[in-house]
Amino acid sequence: MQIFKDKVILITGANRGIGRSLVKALLHTGVRKVYATCRDLNKMPTFDDDRVVTLSLDITDDRQIAAVAAVALDTEILINNAGTVNPGNMLEGDLTGMQRDMQVNYFGTITMMRAFAPILRKNKPSAIINIVSIAAYSPLPSIAGYAASKAALFSATQAVRIELAKEDVAVYAVNPGAIDTDMNRGSDWDMPDSDSTAVRIVEHIANGELDSVPDTMGQGMYQAWREDPSKLSAIFSDLYHATPID
Ligand SMILES: NC(=O)c1ccc[n+]([C@@H]2O[C@H](COP(=O)([O-])OP(=O)(O)OC[C@H]3O[C@@H](n4cnc5c(N)ncnc54)[C@H](OP(=O)(O)O)[C@@H]3O)[C@@H](O)[C@H]2O)c1
Repeated sequence: MQIFKDKVILITGANRGIGRSLVKALLHTGVRKVYATCRDLNKMPTFDDDRVVTLSLDITDDRQIAAVAAVALDTEILINNAGTVNPGNMLEGDLTGMQRDMQVNYFGTITMMRAFAPILRKNKPSAIINIVSIAAYSPLPSIAGYAASKAALFSATQAVRIELAKEDVAVYAVNPGAIDTDMNRGSDWDMPDSDSTAVRIVEHIANGELDSVPDTMGQGMYQAWREDPSKLSAIFSDLYHATPID
């Protein structure tokens, strides 16, 4: 996989879920180094690979971001994976949770892109890979604040793609459907695991797909949206009204 071969990668939220699986998948692609970052290094799994360098990073903490950017000056591919989801619909959901999702998923990721843009420009050809969500295309009202934060992140990703287009920094958006991680704990949906999803993500990026959907459920939703955005809204409406929130 040429895009990852001998590259230095930094990933956020690497301690569990899709982030941890991405580190494992990337280590099979010939990468030179992976900066695996997470909020609490005590929770970082052992990857048993000398190429992994662990760093502490909360993406809502500007000082921590600056400190990591000062260390990881050789980063060539930035993977913004860290994210939170707080349940609640738009009209009655907990505003604090919505603000939290916006702080992490949107502002935290933007701050990461701002901090690393000079590094990526210097180390070009380089890339930013943002893990967004299919909810960026149409909201699922039971997680309305999350969907709004991901729609905002999707917009920011497209903006940064244009801003960096002539500087040899490629900007990718990955929009999964539902993946079997802590984020979906308690769901009885039939979901792929994070390991197989991470392999698919790596393959889509290696194929040069700037916008990709790694899982079958997400791809079905994306196709519905492509045919007619109201079709995806109808799918989410059915889901919402079938399982009304308390
Ligand atoms: N699972 C899905 O169905 C799905 C679908 C579409 C998109 N996504 C996106 O995929 C990404 C990974 O999600 P996941 O499913 O792997 O969820 P997860 O298992 O809940 O993992 C979330 C990760 O984000 C980290 N994180 C949360 N807030 C952070 C912060 N302020 N600073 C740094 N790290 C932070 C968590 O760290 P802690 O352990 O410290 O909390 C954890 O490592 C997210 O952006 C999510 O929105 C997931």
